[in-house]
Amino acid sequence: MTRFTINGKAIEVDVEEDTPLLWVIRDEIGLTGTKFGCGVGMCGACTVHVGGRATRSCVTPVSAVDGAEITTIEGLSAEGNHPVQTAWRDLKVPQCGYCQSGQIMQAAALLQDIPEPSDDDIDAVMTGNLCRCMTYSRIRDAVREAAT
Ligand code: FES
Repeated sequence: MTRFTINGKAIEVDVEEDTPLLWVIRDEIGLTGTKFGCGVGMCGACTVHVGGRATRSCVTPVSAVDGAEITTIEGLSAEGNHPVQTAWRDLKVPQCGYCQSGQIMQAAALLQDIPEPSDDDIDAVMTGNLCRCMTYSRIRDAVREAAT
């Protein structure tokens, strides 16, 4: 049995210890905002916060989050009004949208660590989150806006 908190709610799951956290979030808990892209930690679509840190949930075994506090896109803000979400809407960042929950979670973690990031800071942190629609310049602009 693995116990953790997700979006402020205490959860207990009875799955194999090496089950990826992403499967638990989507299939056991039913929070489908976190996406599966590559499954090998390379694209960032599955990014959630574990203890406030951006974490690739596809390569995180559920046993590694025992006792942790996890936040998914559904729990980032009460009404979708986290500064990053507001900036994403204002600048119409998404195109197809598939990677965007991971992008937003990565950007929110970035701003926790570096409240006023330079473009180099933004690029260095966001480079691991891939977008097949190439929304990168809008992502950079939205991170900048969210930081102001
Ligand atoms: Fe986890 Fe791509 S699905 S990094």
